[in-house]
Amino acid sequence: MTGNIPSSRDGFTSKFGVVAAAAGSAVGLGNIWRFPYVVGENGGGAFLLIYLGFILTIGVSVMLAEFIIGRRSQSNALGAFKKLAPGSVWWLVGVMGIISAFVILSFYTTIAGWTLEYLIQAIGNGFSGKNAAEISGMFDSFQHSTARPLLWQLLFMGLTAAVILGGVQKGIEKYTKLLMPMLVLLIVIMCVRSVTLDGAGEGLRFLFKPDFSKINGNVVLEALGQAFFSMSIGMGALITYGSYVQKDNHLPSTTFQIALADTGIAILAGVMIFPAVFAFGVQPDAGTGLVFQVLPNIFQQMPGGYIFGVFFFLLLTVAALTSTISLLEVVVAWAIEELKMTRRKATILFAAAISVLGGLATLSFSELSEFKLFGKTIFDNLDWLSANFLLPLGGVFIVIFLGWILGSKIIADEVTNQGTIKMKLLKIFIFILRYLAPIAILLVFLNGIGVFGGN
Ligand code: PHE
Repeated sequence: MTGNIPSSRDGFTSKFGVVAAAAGSAVGLGNIWRFPYVVGENGGGAFLLIYLGFILTIGVSVMLAEFIIGRRSQSNALGAFKKLAPGSVWWLVGVMGIISAFVILSFYTTIAGWTLEYLIQAIGNGFSGKNAAEISGMFDSFQHSTARPLLWQLLFMGLTAAVILGGVQKGIEKYTKLLMPMLVLLIVIMCVRSVTLDGAGEGLRFLFKPDFSKINGNVVLEALGQAFFSMSIGMGALITYGSYVQKDNHLPSTTFQIALADTGIAILAGVMIFPAVFAFGVQPDAGTGLVFQVLPNIFQQMPGGYIFGVFFFLLLTVAALTSTISLLEVVVAWAIEELKMTRRKATILFAAAISVLGGLATLSFSELSEFKLFGKTIFDNLDWLSANFLLPLGGVFIVIFLGWILGSKIIADEVTNQGTIKMKLLKIFIFILRYLAPIAILLVFLNGIGVFGGN
């Protein structure tokens, strides 16, 4: 049975490989779909500042903590806790991570499915000649239909499963290296078009000019949740990837590079979307459909817009895929190592199981749109639950585990690669792990759900 283990422990072949794969996990629909829609719903500039603050302090610390736990344990998200703290209940943090992977994959594949639909529309020149209202109408009628979104979602889950079946190295490394820089290039070009549209200034002001009257406890929690979601932290995706990282990788600089890429791309996505939001008269708080209603308008206004549209949705599909791969790998690596399943069986079984929940998320926009819990659709509940609850709470446990249970000696060992390199900010890192991050996350969460009154 142990014969299965090497296949899940094959590791990455080069430093760039793992940075690319983890960056591939971080960069995805979270940056290009979720970031603009959450910024739009939470008032713009002030939200952005708080979001950046969270990334720089808590975000990078949780990301580094996950890499350390993963590389130290050489194990999956659940096995890592079992191995490093045998006989304790810390493995429950791993259980939470696996539940998070289930929840995120279910609604993430809904949006990834929309991306496929838009790719096909772009290929078929479906946006051509349509004005902003017609493009919004197109989105609405697609979103409210039943079969197509479900089929796209299943197809996307199938793609994810196919990559996961190929194993870690061959599957993940290959796709990320070339295509991610291409996506960035495309976004930059689209930013140029967007900021030169008539009325673009209002969008830039919305994004960059903080209006602190828009801030309340809920907005702060949304910023924290978006930081966790976008960085792929708080659920063990990066523990799992950390377990494939080589011994001589300098984890702090890897973390820094990924955080920079992830944040940079989110901000670029904002610069691409918001000027166009205002120029085309879309409501910034339009919600989950925001970028799908805005992007086709930008292509319409570009020379070569057809080609841009096709490539953009193609690359967005790939970016989404490198994220869903990291999510499914959490579940599959766990099933292989802890349940002793084969990679094949684990992949097929869990991809199918998650698709059932995923179907419900997709139907939240059509058949189940009236079905609400706590005033929210199934989709919105899954989205909220993962970003604003499961990931931050997982983050609390991860930093406490590293800061207090594994302790300074192991931390110092891992960040300095057994004393061979220096880390200047070690003391600050340990302080954040032990005190700042757990306390801040808990306060933000409790305040966000209104425990201290207000909102
Ligand atoms: N960070 C990914 C994105 O921005 C989503 C994700 C969240 C992936 C959590 C893995 C774990 O699209």
